[in-house]
Amino acid sequence: MIPPFFSYKQNVLYCEDVNLQELSDTHGTPLYVYSKASIEQQMEKLKSAMSKHLPADRQPMFCYACKANSNLAVLTLLRQAGSSLEIVSEGELRRGLAAGFKGEQIVATGVGKTASEIKALLEANVHQINVESIPELYHIQEIAEGLNVKAPIVFRFNPDISGGGHDKISTGRAHDKFGLTYTELLKAFEISKGLPHINALGLSMHIGSQVFEVQTFRTAFQKLPDLVAELRVAGHTIERLDIGGGFPIQYLDEDLLDLEAYAQWVNEIIVPLDADIIMEPGRFLVGNAGAMLSEVTYVKQGDNRSFLVIDAAMNDLIRPSLYDAYHHIIPMQDKSRAEALYDVVGPICESGDTFSQDRKLPELRAKERVAILSAGAYGFCMASNYNTRPMAAEVLIDGDQAHVIRKRQTVEELLERDILI
Ligand code: LLP
Repeated sequence: MIPPFFSYKQNVLYCEDVNLQELSDTHGTPLYVYSKASIEQQMEKLKSAMSKHLPADRQPMFCYACKANSNLAVLTLLRQAGSSLEIVSEGELRRGLAAGFKGEQIVATGVGKTASEIKALLEANVHQINVESIPELYHIQEIAEGLNVKAPIVFRFNPDISGGGHDKISTGRAHDKFGLTYTELLKAFEISKGLPHINALGLSMHIGSQVFEVQTFRTAFQKLPDLVAELRVAGHTIERLDIGGGFPIQYLDEDLLDLEAYAQWVNEIIVPLDADIIMEPGRFLVGNAGAMLSEVTYVKQGDNRSFLVIDAAMNDLIRPSLYDAYHHIIPMQDKSRAEALYDVVGPICESGDTFSQDRKLPELRAKERVAILSAGAYGFCMASNYNTRPMAAEVLIDGDQAHVIRKRQTVEELLERDILI
């Protein structure tokens, strides 16, 4: 499947109305490109599924999980499309504010918030801090006291449910580092009653990423009604329920989450709990909007395999190396050639620097280019400078316009931070 807004025109790959071959002539490779229309369409899909199934006064606050793609232009686009923001670091907070989000549009997660992060969150007047442990609760109380403010918080519940497309991106099991288990949660609410600078307002929950089975969400949701009732009976306020992200996208031919069913279950299980609903979609909004363009450096013939050595590497897109993730790879032109089997690899000195093995592709030659698809989420933002490789440039495409939204790093920029002694 080639994601919407990417298509071949006269045998050349386009994103919206921009010829990607020409674009990469101009800006070089590796190059990240994102379709603006795709991001807007995904936002709209989510909004309309919810507006169809949830009452008007219970429409969720969508907080884009910007860890998926935190480029300022992407954040601004999503803000303009009506999204709020979920952040996990002071850096993301600063990005959010720089992209024009107001503090009250921001919710802050993270198991390891430092003193300076908590201070920055309180000073920015964020909508809520999602608290993940009792020590963190005390820490927030202390900092809020110093600033003489009351910190709006919710507690992150760990429902002990396995959700998520890969072990490393499942977050809701009891042995995962995230959130508070049932007993800890009750304790945390009790403690918060005695903390004058804490305003405990509800619960949050995020079970994992790439959750395909709508049933998994349902099982997690079903843990909430009894818990909420119990907390209310104990005199605690539950006026906000943040039900996290995890909406999947198609990388290959996966059966997608049934958004309508998801929305219906939110309506059936969460809405009756009479609280403000927050959702934290990340990948869903940006994943299929992006592709990474790369040039073939060599076609190397091994004993019994052909390696397509490209100029992008695991430092540019780490998902295949880290999660064995599948990404479609397609040629940027001449897709009608006879097919051959390739191991598509980068130049980094690790065998793990492999995008795919035995991938069937139209025959390719050196200097020709490929697009690695579905790279809009957890692509550029997970890039590193491993092997002293400068990070790629990013381009946002809007119809026939291409805007560079991040300049390519230079080796000079990398070297200038080192200090000779
Ligand atoms: N909320 C919280 C608290 C999260 O931890 C995450 C993702 C999200 C929302 C957004 O989840 P999404 O809607 O994007 O599934 N690097 C991995 C994914 C890590 C996800 C981490 N948390 C990957 O490339 O697959």
